[in-house]
Amino acid sequence: MAGPPPGPRLPRVVQTAFFLFGPRRFIARMHRRYGPLVQLGTAFDSNFVMVFDPALVKEVFRAPPDRLRAGEANAVLGPALGMRSVLLLDGEEHLRQRRLMLPSFHGQRMRAYEDVMREAADRAVDSWPLESEFALLPWMQQLTLDVILRAVFGVEAGPRQDELKLRLRQMIEPVANRFGLLMMVLMPRLGNNRAVRQFEERRRLVDELIYDEIARRRDAPDLEEREDVFSMLLLARDENGQPMTDEELRDQLVTLLVAGHETTATGLAWAFDRILRTPSVRTELERAVEEGDDQYIDAVAKEALRVRPVIPGVGRVVRGGPFELGGYTLREGTEINPSIAVIHARGDMFPGPRDFRPERFLEDDPPDTYTWIPFGGGTRRCLGASFALFEMRVVIRRVIERTRLEPVSDTAEHVERRGITMVPKTGTRVVMRERRPAGAQSETRNLAESELPVRVPSTGTATSR
Ligand code: HEM
Repeated sequence: MAGPPPGPRLPRVVQTAFFLFGPRRFIARMHRRYGPLVQLGTAFDSNFVMVFDPALVKEVFRAPPDRLRAGEANAVLGPALGMRSVLLLDGEEHLRQRRLMLPSFHGQRMRAYEDVMREAADRAVDSWPLESEFALLPWMQQLTLDVILRAVFGVEAGPRQDELKLRLRQMIEPVANRFGLLMMVLMPRLGNNRAVRQFEERRRLVDELIYDEIARRRDAPDLEEREDVFSMLLLARDENGQPMTDEELRDQLVTLLVAGHETTATGLAWAFDRILRTPSVRTELERAVEEGDDQYIDAVAKEALRVRPVIPGVGRVVRGGPFELGGYTLREGTEINPSIAVIHARGDMFPGPRDFRPERFLEDDPPDTYTWIPFGGGTRRCLGASFALFEMRVVIRRVIERTRLEPVSDTAEHVERRGITMVPKTGTRVVMRERRPAGAQSETRNLAESELPVRVPSTGTATSR
């Protein structure tokens, strides 16, 4: 039997320090030094293996879900999302929730959300100051939260939506900063539960509103006609004709709110950072917006998620005996981490990897399902991928249509880790030089299934194109 993959002999405390203070450089060095599979260990995880090669990522994404478990790898999100969350479950239970949720996120359904997305973009644009500096990221967070609350939750603007927004951000923000999640994990080990208690109280306040909303919605006379995801989940039945329980519903709703807004907002902030600093792309994008060339706008969104992936990697835990990968043996309990950030930066996969070149996605042989992986893959691929790509299309188009933005300096944004996301350090600071009235509204095509980067599989493996 082959042994474990190679890796540094550095003490765990030193590896932990590298991960905390310079993860990107450290991981890139590990890749150069040890090759496509590297075994590492930190204070938080004594044994994990990073994967830097698409062929091996393919094996990981296609492995039987009971052998490589994503739910277990996501356990740290449990306190916020709840233990019935689709992100936290594995095996049959995961597939049941995923099947119930999938129809609401089908590519064809996206058109229903277009107006909501464009109106949220208009509200943001109308609130930005003219001729003075501001950061785009907080505005994008507001915008994507608005969209999720209306498209997923079906809660109209008003005091109820405001209250839910407030309570949600109060729950998420303390754990979303650089060290927040760490404190939640570390402090209880040191006997200090204050952060956990505070978090639990905030979670209780969110739950109170959500359970109340579930009760009201079950009684809503127009439930069958409603287009929001919440209402569709209430009506969904599994193969035994069973609906979701209130607890399952609560956990999936919070999961969608948390997984769906910060990520998309960060993707949008990075997209504008790249667009505004690459004049040739900006010019081409202005043409695309004017001519209704959605394919180019989509390529811009995909390339932004390539060059600045929002989530740097995904996890799978080995169960059911050792797992063979790339000629090595990974023992039971090992966490495998396909590195989105390193694979997206490989010059042999993406020539000129630091350049922002949307054209890569318009060529005859665009990056495949295991090389362009901002949404992970296999039976765990992001459920909201087409939702996020569609939202990015609508918002990028609207902002380009209505504004003239400029970056405030020539220095590109630094990448900073915040919770599980990689954000622009100063939030993409810009100045708006011109704002055009909302006026005539442009139409967008729905994302055709064939245009999606990958079909979202309910079972089995991802289909590559
Ligand atoms: C640019 C925006 C987004 C990015 C970069 C992103 C990224 C990801 C990644 C990397 C995963 C883990 C996949 C894996 O383990 O293989 C994931 C899972 C998931 N995402 Fe997203 N996501 C985004 C937007 C959204 C949106 C808008 C929603 C919903 C409204 C959403 C809902 C989910 C759900 C439910 C899962 C769990 C899927 C499962 O375990 O079966 N995400 N996402």
